[in-house]
Amino acid sequence: MKIVIINGQNHKGSTYHIGRIVAEKLGGEITEYFLPRDFDEFCCGCTRCFTENEKLCPHYEKLRPITEAIDKADVLVFTTPVYVYHCTGSMKAFLDHYGYRWLVHRPDEKMFSKQAVVVSTAAGAGMKSAGKDIGDSLTFWGVPKVYSIGAAVMATSWDGVRPEKKKRIESKACRIAEKIKSSGIKPRVSLKGRVFFTAMHFANKNGWNPADSEYWKEKGWTEKKRPWKKESVKE
Ligand SMILES: Cc1cc2nc3c(=O)[nH]c(=O)nc-3n(C[C@H](O)[C@H](O)[C@H](O)COP(=O)(O)O)c2cc1C
Repeated sequence: MKIVIINGQNHKGSTYHIGRIVAEKLGGEITEYFLPRDFDEFCCGCTRCFTENEKLCPHYEKLRPITEAIDKADVLVFTTPVYVYHCTGSMKAFLDHYGYRWLVHRPDEKMFSKQAVVVSTAAGAGMKSAGKDIGDSLTFWGVPKVYSIGAAVMATSWDGVRPEKKKRIESKACRIAEKIKSSGIKPRVSLKGRVFFTAMHFANKNGWNPADSEYWKEKGWTEKKRPWKKESVKE
């Protein structure tokens, strides 16, 4: 099993440690990235990824190693501490670069066979909204199953987290890892994903954004093919 961890922070605090616990419980080959250390660009708003081709993004090459690691992974683990009730700015800037991959544009079919875990920690509150910042992207990329761990650690470092709290976090991580391992990796789609996909199937059939419509036609999605059906998942 290939696991990619995208940390929305450079440091190894509570959030990092929880992400790492999940990945280690899953067992497999773990690759981790830290933001902004490994990707520090902001979307410049040129919109060329949407209207023409993502390769025209000025940051495409810089982002490519992470994109390739995400594409190859079976499980994606995203982590963020809560910063003023949301994910970190570095994580948001990173996710903005994949707007073109949303279901309403050009989703990558490999996303439909992945599972994901979103980890967010706060001193007290904001885990839900911070987790949703990331979960929205994962769902709209087409990832069918997104688990979340939101922990109010009441601390500003992992060493400061009470042992009983650590134990509870660890057992939640364990339960999620077991579910992921037992469910196997098979292409599926969530109900939300299916609804959006069907709407975009019609929009692209009738000519929507030309770059998107061309992509959908090439994939056969404006006809009967669907990315969550095994025969249309290509390496
Ligand atoms: C800029 C900033 C904003 C924060 N905003 C919140 C917040 O809105 N709610 C909260 O409960 N904790 C907030 N915190 C505290 C952290 O979310 C919390 O300590 C978190 O567990 C730190 O994770 P880490 O150990 O991985 O850095 C904030 C911390 C920072 C540095």
